[in-house]
Amino acid sequence: MRTPALVMDRSKILSNIRELKTALPRFRIAYAIKSNSHPEIIRLLREEGSHFETASLPEIQFLMQQGIPGEEIVLSNPIKTSETIASAIKLGVTVLAFDSLDELEKFHPHKETAQLLLRIKVPNEASMWPLTGKFGSPIEWWPDIFEYMEKHSIPLAGITFHPGSQCESVTGWENAMILTWRAIKMSQEYGLKPYIVNIGGGFPIDLGRDIPTTEEIAATVNAHVDEWAEEGFVPKELICEPGRFISGSAGYLVSKVVGTAHRDKNWAYLDCGVFNGMMETIDGIEYPTLSNATGELEKINLCGPSCDSVDKMYEAKLPTLKTGDKLIFRGAGAYTTVYASSFNGFHGPEVHFVESVRDPSDLFALVS
Ligand SMILES: Cc1ncc(COP(=O)(O)O)c(C=O)c1O
Repeated sequence: MRTPALVMDRSKILSNIRELKTALPRFRIAYAIKSNSHPEIIRLLREEGSHFETASLPEIQFLMQQGIPGEEIVLSNPIKTSETIASAIKLGVTVLAFDSLDELEKFHPHKETAQLLLRIKVPNEASMWPLTGKFGSPIEWWPDIFEYMEKHSIPLAGITFHPGSQCESVTGWENAMILTWRAIKMSQEYGLKPYIVNIGGGFPIDLGRDIPTTEEIAATVNAHVDEWAEEGFVPKELICEPGRFISGSAGYLVSKVVGTAHRDKNWAYLDCGVFNGMMETIDGIEYPTLSNATGELEKINLCGPSCDSVDKMYEAKLPTLKTGDKLIFRGAGAYTTVYASSFNGFHGPEVHFVESVRDPSDLFALVS
């Protein structure tokens, strides 16, 4: 196996989706293919009954090439071109998100077919990778949006949110479910009849930090759904869109040390960096890291192979590294290969599927 490589554990992908299905039995799972769109993951998940979440027309077309019909696809990107909307709907993708009046206006020609979900803005503070930077309808916008929908007979199918990726506290879901209920009640006051709630992704994986269990998150979410039922609101459809939770923990990124230097600090230059797989490290994601080196632990600044200073990852405590040593990054199955470019000629990780990874350090022996 050449490095950089991403080794994906099939059994972990399956146990991840089964864990979510058990915890959220009323929910339709739509795997967010943006996290890792490898056809083998799509095949495995489809056999488990998963549907799929997309952000663009090319993602929809890619899924269709894998035999996924439009009704099993959700388009959750809140801002899209009118052409994308028309093409998606023509392909049978009718559940779409929006978050502003400007976007809503694009749906006039599709008001008979589109099942529109208002993406509301919810706190993302508990998340390692917040998603509120450019999306989400703040509460002040809702009255104008609902009034417009009512006035122009554009049905509101439901409400959606995202608590932020790698959301590490149940408060992320607690706050979001409370705001969702406010949005449902307010929309009903405007005569709208929402019937879908989509809770997005955000389910965290083990990155060596404190995280709630899936059961704890589900207990909060399910309790709110039950409370709504007591108030007379039983959504016809509940959706969740896990990405990282399904693919992240199933992936082991294997990399080699290209060179080392002692400058202000100890530096190790790896064959995988920010531009060819480890993009999320620029904003705080750190992967539990294993090395085949032995000896005293020291602080080492990990960086990638390119000639750009942005290509710095994070400081890890590892045995002294030398050229040729191997590293394994756990929890790297999501948002790695999909971000990788070939900047400076350094290709992204080669992907390998195995039935199961019992001990990650076994993977060192596979590296040539
Ligand atoms: C709309 C939407 N749904 C689902 C996801 C998947 O999120 P995660 O990987 O945190 O589960 C994302 C991630 O960006 C998203 O934007």
